[in-house]
Amino acid sequence: MHCGILVVLVAFFLTLVGPCQPLDNGLARTPPMGWIAWERFRCTTDCNSYPDHCISEELFKVMADKLVEDGWKDLGYKYVNIDDCWSAMVRDVNGKLQPDPERFPSGIKGLADYVHSKGLKLGIYGDLGHSTCGGYLGTLLETVDVDAKTFAEWEVDMLKLDGCNSNSTERSIGYPKMSHALNATGRQIVYSCSWPAYEDGLPPKVNYTLIGELCNLWRNYDDINDSWSKVLAIINWFGDHQEDLQPAAGPGRWNDPDMLIVGNFGLNQDQSKAQLAIWAILAAPFFMSNDLRTISADAKSLLQNKLLIHIDQDKLGQQGVRIKKDEDFQLWKRKLSHGQFALAYLNTAELGEAKSFTLSLPPLRIEGCSHGYNIYDVFDKKLVAFLTSNHTHSFRVNPTSVVLFFVRPIC
Ligand SMILES: *[C@@H]1O[C@H](CO)[C@@H](O)[C@H](O)[C@H]1NC(C)=O
Ligand SMILES: *[C@@H]1O[C@H](CO)[C@@H](O)[C@H](O)[C@H]1NC(C)=O
Ligand SMILES: *[C@@H]1O[C@H](CO)[C@@H](O)[C@H](O)[C@H]1NC(C)=O
Ligand SMILES: *[C@@H]1O[C@H](CO)[C@@H](O)[C@H](O)[C@H]1NC(C)=O
Repeated sequence: MHCGILVVLVAFFLTLVGPCQPLDNGLARTPPMGWIAWERFRCTTDCNSYPDHCISEELFKVMADKLVEDGWKDLGYKYVNIDDCWSAMVRDVNGKLQPDPERFPSGIKGLADYVHSKGLKLGIYGDLGHSTCGGYLGTLLETVDVDAKTFAEWEVDMLKLDGCNSNSTERSIGYPKMSHALNATGRQIVYSCSWPAYEDGLPPKVNYTLIGELCNLWRNYDDINDSWSKVLAIINWFGDHQEDLQPAAGPGRWNDPDMLIVGNFGLNQDQSKAQLAIWAILAAPFFMSNDLRTISADAKSLLQNKLLIHIDQDKLGQQGVRIKKDEDFQLWKRKLSHGQFALAYLNTAELGEAKSFTLSLPPLRIEGCSHGYNIYDVFDKKLVAFLTSNHTHSFRVNPTSVVLFFVRPIC
């Protein structure tokens, strides 16, 4: 049924006029969390030279093991996601996708069984186009239905559908078609669309109302890489275009600024905090792409910060916004449930000393709680102040870093 008609009927029967409904598969009511291979392991397929780092069922099994053993799963990181370069180079005799037989000897169904036996979920990757970005098997408009059925038969729980090697017209047909085909399988499969990123991410080329009716999450902008400059470019793009992006997000439908690279080679501890803080403010999916076997204790403790995850996963599902920006400073704010807020003070200067700031609630329009607000420093893991409208809290932020506060009313 067309969404507009649905709203009219709902309005008629319930005298309620609501916004158009998001994709109604009941999934991703908070931003999904897990691990994905791409940024760290890329398209490494040479298992002779790199037996422990190639795209193979072993890699996903060992990451599944680590997610459970090292406490990630209990914190919400429950998806284990395959990215590009998993498939064979030809379809099987029935025209179905099939994995590379040497690297995935158990098949995707066998891997799904393993991942499910650990209480985790399996994600797979496809590409709407004649081949994937890495040159593997693509999904053509004519194979959308059979590919959706194949993923469901394999008991996959999430699909990331990339958009290399197709044109705009094909994407405008193929992405909705896959959404309906997944629904028709009857299996609950989180649907991640790279569609907007291939249309420059903004209206009028991208209709985010429509995207939200079809997809659970979507990539808007460039791929991340293992560098601070890319993290900052993504932060700036999301801030610069927040008027178009922020209303698109909500329970079941999320903007995706791309993977968490914390735990790799490119970010120091300060910059890692900055990525995590802004991603949490953005209500971003938390998909780590790192090596859970060798991750440092420092990176692990950032990614496992409970208050950070609590902010990201807030049930209200409202994406935050940048409320102030100058040459080397940005202030981001996210409204959370129960009158709570998150505030991120981002120092983008790449030089000098830590900068001093003063937190005062009235200019931030955080007011109304008669008694006052507890201010928690999320990464220092402590209560740093109790503020009323008359108090201030002073603190310092290192270059290319952030201080993230969780603000809780005590009424
Ligand atoms: C398919 O869509 C209908 C209508 O939006 C929804 O009620 C149902 O839960 C969906 N099923 C799956 C498996 O996503
Ligand atoms: C897109 O590709 C289709 C083939 O699938 C072709 O018929 C069509 O002309 C292309 N459209 C554009 C705008 O290039
Ligand atoms: C965007 O999509 C929605 C939902 O499908 C539709 O109602 C609306 O008319 C579209 N907006 C534009 C500008 O095309
Ligand atoms: C990573 O992203 C930055 C910022 O956009 C860019 O300057 C750099 O060339 C990229 N590195 C690679 C290897 O793509």
